[in-house]
Amino acid sequence: MSNLKEILINKKICKSVWFMRQAGRYLPEFRKIRSQNQNFINLCLNSELSSKITLQPIERFNLDSAIIFSDILMVPYALNQKVEFLKNHGPKLEIFNLDKFLKNNDLDFIKKLKPVYKAIEITRKKLSKNKSLISFIGAPWTLLVYMIGAKQNKDQIDLKIINEKNNEIDLILEKLINYLCLHIENQIKAGADVVQIFDSWAGLIPQKDLNSFCYVPNSKIVKFCKKKGIPVICFPKGIKENYKVFNNLVKPDGLNIDYNVNPNWARENLKGTVIQGGLDPKILLLPDEEIYNSARNYLDAFKGLPYVFNLGHGMLPETNPDKVDRLIKFYREY
Ligand code: CP3
Repeated sequence: MSNLKEILINKKICKSVWFMRQAGRYLPEFRKIRSQNQNFINLCLNSELSSKITLQPIERFNLDSAIIFSDILMVPYALNQKVEFLKNHGPKLEIFNLDKFLKNNDLDFIKKLKPVYKAIEITRKKLSKNKSLISFIGAPWTLLVYMIGAKQNKDQIDLKIINEKNNEIDLILEKLINYLCLHIENQIKAGADVVQIFDSWAGLIPQKDLNSFCYVPNSKIVKFCKKKGIPVICFPKGIKENYKVFNNLVKPDGLNIDYNVNPNWARENLKGTVIQGGLDPKILLLPDEEIYNSARNYLDAFKGLPYVFNLGHGMLPETNPDKVDRLIKFYREY
């Protein structure tokens, strides 16, 4: 069994490190492939290249887990909503149409995502047995924000758009939950052994809606995973002290904390789950000593507990890979 699974399932105290967004933007070997593949969706659909990119950070840093190179927006793509990634602009989705969305069916959905499952199969064969292959999905709310075009800029959503669609939202979330469970099941069948749920925009949900937009959808997916024996890590980014409510209601095997969650608070308040991550990715842009001091903060806080070393959000594109290498060495020697 991989050390990540040992930690998540058996709550074993052992070392395990991987980084969110470890494959991609900051690696020169990725940028080279990317420059020859202008269409990002097509790159994600190229199983051989996707597998190759997945393994790049493993070859470079010998991390304990690989995360499959894909994107959370492959799900709207597979639900027949056009997705484009424009240079310096981020993702751009075709205008949402409820009737069109409701016409989707399971078989076509799976068929469109076959290349992702194939990439997982190829990668599992190449990855050593003691390493985990992590699959992932975007949480229903985070996908909905992109799908209905509610994302305004970096840290804001247009609540007007959410309110206008209020009577459709529950239906969209419910349908998404079904498709996402299907996507998880197929990724696991293909050879992934853990799933992480990215709720990147959970922190933008008004307090009164947290239950229906965040806790309930995540709970339903976690229940599905538990029923199937799939280890699941949740990442409800930005919900501050509500991490405690989330943990008590959703009860995932693992919980990734973001960089605004104090690790000592997390140790005291987030019991019964394996904590993962926390380190601010911006720290990796600072001198080495500051990186080590910050990492030590997390390692000291979770000493004697099962803890997965990781970041509090994705690796930044401007990160120097040599610093990542030295951080991993520091962690392994700690
Ligand atoms: O290394 C890995 O973690 C595996 C692959 C992965 C990608 N995206 C590849 C990617 C994963 C796990 C994701 C998750 C993802 N995608 C999230 C959740 C995590 C988070 O960061 O909050 C979100 C919100 C997305 C949506 C998305 N995809 C955006 C907003 C963008 C554009 C801006 C950006 O982050 O780069 C993407 C594109 C994307 N997804 C790239 C990569 C490597 C960059 C593509 C490029 O080279 O232009």
